[in-house]
Amino acid sequence: MDIHFTADKPSPEEKAAVDSKLGPPATAWEGGERRAASDGRTSSGGHRGQAERHRLLPVLHAIQSRVGWISAGAINYTALRLDLPPAEVYGVASFYGLFSLSQRPPVVAHVCDDIACLTRGAEEICKDLESKLGASGAPCMSNRAMWLRSPCLGLCERAPAALVTSAGEEPRERVLAPANPNSIQSLVRDAIEGKLPEEPDVLNPNLSVPQAGRPEIHLLRRIGQADPTSLDDYRRMDGYQALRRALDLGPEGVVREMIDSRLLGRGGAAFPTGKKWESVQAQRKPGCKHFVICNADESEPGTFKDRVIMEGDPFAVIEGMTIAALAVGAQKGYIYLRGEYPYAAKRLAHAIQAARAHGLLGGNILGRGLHFDIELRRGAGAYICGEETALFSSIEGYRGEPRNKPPFPTQAGLFHQPTLVNNVETLINVPEIIRTGGAAYARIGTENSAGYRLFCVCGHVARPGVYEVPFGATLHGVIDLAGGVGGNGQLQAVLLGGAAGAFVSPKELDTPLTFEGTRAIGATLGSGVIMLFDNTIDLKKILLRIAAFFRHETCGQCVPCRVGVVRQDEALRRLAGRQPLGSVDQEVRTLREMGQAMRDASICGLGQTASSALESALNRWSLFS
Ligand SMILES: Cc1cc2nc3c(=O)[nH]c(=O)nc-3n(C[C@H](O)[C@H](O)[C@H](O)COP(=O)(O)O)c2cc1C
Ligand code: SF4
Ligand code: FES
Repeated sequence: MDIHFTADKPSPEEKAAVDSKLGPPATAWEGGERRAASDGRTSSGGHRGQAERHRLLPVLHAIQSRVGWISAGAINYTALRLDLPPAEVYGVASFYGLFSLSQRPPVVAHVCDDIACLTRGAEEICKDLESKLGASGAPCMSNRAMWLRSPCLGLCERAPAALVTSAGEEPRERVLAPANPNSIQSLVRDAIEGKLPEEPDVLNPNLSVPQAGRPEIHLLRRIGQADPTSLDDYRRMDGYQALRRALDLGPEGVVREMIDSRLLGRGGAAFPTGKKWESVQAQRKPGCKHFVICNADESEPGTFKDRVIMEGDPFAVIEGMTIAALAVGAQKGYIYLRGEYPYAAKRLAHAIQAARAHGLLGGNILGRGLHFDIELRRGAGAYICGEETALFSSIEGYRGEPRNKPPFPTQAGLFHQPTLVNNVETLINVPEIIRTGGAAYARIGTENSAGYRLFCVCGHVARPGVYEVPFGATLHGVIDLAGGVGGNGQLQAVLLGGAAGAFVSPKELDTPLTFEGTRAIGATLGSGVIMLFDNTIDLKKILLRIAAFFRHETCGQCVPCRVGVVRQDEALRRLAGRQPLGSVDQEVRTLREMGQAMRDASICGLGQTASSALESALNRWSLFS
């Protein structure tokens, strides 16, 4: 895109979108009457610019969803209103996959061609759309729509998946899963005619949580049994008992229960939750603001459990955050939600509103002097923003680039204040722990992996969905729970933990799904993905898709990752195309060396794990000889 900061002015729609988030311009200067955004003399981001910068991402969202893309004029006007240099606004807008800086039709179908959808016909769908509508990214239907290949949309249990968005004064988003070429085209036509249907029943518990209603589940017990829009239903099924007990226990008592529970974070790094809470609590000093963040970015291919929780039991997330806030002394919380989750956004926004209306958020919660409120922030299509420090940068209005640690988030996190970040699944364990007691919770599971665990079972399996088991169940046991191997019934491989995880072979199905059990076979539970592949799948294609994912998602900030993910993708393509540089062995050796360099020298977990799946496959199969 050629950006001409000196000439471009916003359209009335773009101005309206920006003003809808920032209010009407207070001064003629901001209104652009004395000077358009545009005479080249740009601010360098003065006091006001820094103070208001955190509003940048919501503003960019507003423009994208109103107009369908973000023009140079819109960037200029945003820069003017936020008192930031246009280059800074451009830098942020260009970071996110859901924002377009080139003109686009208002209707876009995002069609997932990622690994779970590949097992369920995604490539055939994309080929069909190519033949009928033209290439991915090219305008079609008289320039009123386009379709785009997309990374995992977090709907893998209902693969193949698509998401249709329609920009305008009343923007709409509609999920389609399972999708087929006809249903996608028909929805796109509806969207063009302004008739994109309202969402159907958001979550079908029978489809997404096959254990729904069964007595053996705890964390997921309300899904399908309680109306997720009803606070009364939530209370009828134990809701807010835990917060009352937490208020009686006080901050120190709550942290003690969390430590006793031996809960490890479910976001991938498996850090002890109680210890993390204790560290944030210990930072309490006058003038220090603390924050609680629910990490709901869930963009790891194959992962969808957090979405199902947020759509099916949103009050549990809010209660978990409120107890966390009490423990660490935070008055403000954020839920950082993946941009591609429109229904979860609606459910959470409704639940926050309802909790506020009933004195369960806001000032003096339950009349007990606790002050805490939650703001919902939507990401915009960047996997790296799930990394906790990148998430801070994103909320603060910067590019979602990770920061060096230390300092750790518990000391200097969001806005450089002590911050507690927990995953959605981690947080819904909290009410369960406080209600039943930390010691009782610790007795569930195994010695080193306490409690319940949610798994995202997908790919070639009979009944895909989110499954809950106490730690200790074997991989075989969970696959059986999900009805056994699907596809042609001949299991070739299982991907554990997502794109950043590891492949295991059918010989390893007796592995206990615990942190220690998976570590023993060189794998990881990661974000809880269990993705099955039958023997019709060419694993090389799956590896190529994973490599392309990391190449696309690196933030590019540090050299080993920025260069490594590109070289990895190139080498893999050469091997798959039987055109290695030198011999196959040499090329494979180079791939392994690159993996080692990324593991050793990358700043964050993305680079450190970008070669894990590939190397696990190389360790188990001779894919290229
Ligand atoms: C590239 C990358 C992406 C991540 N994405 C997520 C995510 O979507 N959700 C999440 O909870 N944690 C994610 N994490 C882990 C977070 O950095 C952090 O460890 C986690 O949110 C802490 O919560 P927990 O202690 O409850 O697990 C990601 C980490 C990396 C390196
Ligand atoms: S490892 Fe990759 S994603 Fe992480 S900071 Fe470095 S370049 Fe960015
Ligand atoms: S929705 Fe397609 S891979 Fe997850």
